[in-house]
Amino acid sequence: MTQDIKAAVQQQFHQVAANYRTSSVHARGVDLAEMVAAAQPRGHERVLDAGCGTGHTALTFAPHVASVIGVDFTGAMLDQARRLADERGLHNVDFRLGDVEQLPFARSEFDLVVSRYSAHHWPHPQRALAEFRRVLRPGGRLILSDIVSFDSFVIDTFVQAIELLRDPSHVRDHTAAQWLSMFAGAGFAAEVVFTWGLRLDFADWVARMRTSDVNVAALRSLMATAPTDVCTALLFEDDGSFTFQGALFRAQREQ
Ligand SMILES: C[S@@+](CC[C@H](N)C(=O)[O-])C[C@H]1O[C@@H](n2cnc3c(N)ncnc32)[C@H](O)[C@@H]1O
Repeated sequence: MTQDIKAAVQQQFHQVAANYRTSSVHARGVDLAEMVAAAQPRGHERVLDAGCGTGHTALTFAPHVASVIGVDFTGAMLDQARRLADERGLHNVDFRLGDVEQLPFARSEFDLVVSRYSAHHWPHPQRALAEFRRVLRPGGRLILSDIVSFDSFVIDTFVQAIELLRDPSHVRDHTAAQWLSMFAGAGFAAEVVFTWGLRLDFADWVARMRTSDVNVAALRSLMATAPTDVCTALLFEDDGSFTFQGALFRAQREQ
């Protein structure tokens, strides 16, 4: 049965929300502290976390800023985020239902927009960037962290293929160069401030997303016949675990 890609993303995350609250990739990870360091908050900031999921990024920023609003269009993910905020006793965080490509906020409402591991689900990232520009005050900052793909066409095709097999609602891991071009087009001066290798344990990776058995078999088959360039770039291990690359962008809204 076919459905709108956004409905597919919501349906996918609705059924796995609890897994994302406990996922070590999301709850921890070197990029969380690097996002705060890149933002250099001084304590007065009003922050938007776009595609907040179960809230790990919003809750990391909360102690450093005045307030955080996390937005996500999957209600079950927000329920988990509220639960985490309660557990941590954080009261300057609010979670709201909304689409990052059509934000329910007025112009210049935020000093800082952050987003982590969500952008590869957005069908129109340029629309999201235009929305971030609209809701940021002039000079405000955007810190975006995500998996990025490779400039090599061979490796890029492989990355998108395994992402799609694992999660049929996957849209695209853009390359860092593609992101920088989209930032510039949306009126942001942007740079890559941190990169890292994101090791993914194969069994965890597919269990977290409840990938179907048939797709797990297809993943294993595709990986077994991957070209040498792909095996080298993704640091394939015997059990199917591998390493994606992450990039953290700092962008400033031009006046
Ligand atoms: C992997 S989770 C986010 C992880 C989270 N930011 C963190 O740091 O742990 C991806 C989230 O993006 C959300 N998402 C995807 N597309 C969206 C959109 N257009 N608008 C709002 N949320 C979106 C999904 O609902 C999902 O909760």
